[in-house]
Amino acid sequence: MAADGDHQAGTSATTDPPRQVLLTGGSSGIGLEAAMQLLDAGHRLTVLCRDAASADRLGQVLAQVAGQHLDGRLATPICDLSDLTSIERCAEDLLTAAEPIDSLVLNAGLQYSGAREPRWSAQGFELTIAVNHLAHQVLLQRLLPLLLQGRAPRLVVTSSEVHDPSTAGGKVGQPAGLGDLAGLRQGPGAAMLDGGPFNAEKAYKDSKLCNLLMARELERQLRQQGQSLPVLAWSPGLVIPRSSGGFFRYSRSQNPFGQALFALLARDLLRLTETPQRAGALLAGLATTRPSDPVGFQYWSSRVQGPGRLRFEASQPSLEARSDALAGGLWTLTAQAVAAACL
Ligand SMILES: NC(=O)c1ccc[n+]([C@@H]2O[C@H](COP(=O)([O-])OP(=O)(O)OC[C@H]3O[C@@H](n4cnc5c(N)ncnc54)[C@H](OP(=O)(O)O)[C@@H]3O)[C@@H](O)[C@H]2O)c1
Repeated sequence: MAADGDHQAGTSATTDPPRQVLLTGGSSGIGLEAAMQLLDAGHRLTVLCRDAASADRLGQVLAQVAGQHLDGRLATPICDLSDLTSIERCAEDLLTAAEPIDSLVLNAGLQYSGAREPRWSAQGFELTIAVNHLAHQVLLQRLLPLLLQGRAPRLVVTSSEVHDPSTAGGKVGQPAGLGDLAGLRQGPGAAMLDGGPFNAEKAYKDSKLCNLLMARELERQLRQQGQSLPVLAWSPGLVIPRSSGGFFRYSRSQNPFGQALFALLARDLLRLTETPQRAGALLAGLATTRPSDPVGFQYWSSRVQGPGRLRFEASQPSLEARSDALAGGLWTLTAQAVAAACL
């Protein structure tokens, strides 16, 4: 597929009929920007929020954006992605409501780079993997019937270039790698999916590798059953917001000076970053309009061409992300680990 060119992005408030978009990670950063732009373009949104306070805050922010035109186009069900019980409850409610989903956007993610000790989900899985990967596979499996009933349905999954050890970000520190998934076989209590010792940066890279493998595997399974679903995985590039919250909140709290210097260099001097607004526009575009006629699995990545110049183009994921055997194994073991933890 041809590259889409520099700095064209976003959804359009054109004649495209409104879509029903279900989004995780829509309360902050890239997802919040996408949510604002999607509402502005007339789409209907269901944004899963970790708790009632987050849902209230988001409702207020988006009501301000959409004004009186919100007209019931926003729902904010509670879904704490670090708790399989909360995810199951939310999925059950959505299935009962039975509203078809046109675009399922799995975008939530966290990292706690620099931490020496693992944090744990409600069921005892390492938190990065629990939120970024396990939660999203559970949602995908449970909500797939609603997605397949949607109009020209598409699945969008937010990954990151760091999943790929050959990229600039992926080269720094320990590379992503799932080994033989010994940690996932172990289940709760394993610090890493490969069974190795905890490393927060690698856990994040591994989770983003899982996002790609899961996306590819779902598309492959459906194709094998004679069904087709466009699956768009993407990487937003480096997005460092100016606000104190967001994706780098943990790193900032651990190393305020180092992070401030990193932001100054990468964002302000070398201009290697995407703005949250533009990354949000890319996500909103993938959820609705771009590519206009997607087929199969695609991976899109925002790549630095030079200072202030990023190009969003169809790309090749890493070698490991392209392994069908690993994708199948990860899917099966994830489903088994989740089922065992929920017994
Ligand atoms: N920023 C970057 O440089 C960058 C680069 C490559 C890829 N990405 C990916 O882009 C995606 C969005 O990142 P971002 O930069 O927009 O980060 P962000 O501002 O921190 O947003 C993360 C979102 O995930 C949600 N989330 C985290 N834990 C949750 C939980 N337990 N339950 C429910 N929701 C939860 C957050 O909810 P709360 O608002 O409640 O915290 C928030 O809406 C992530 O998948 C990330 O891996 C980011």
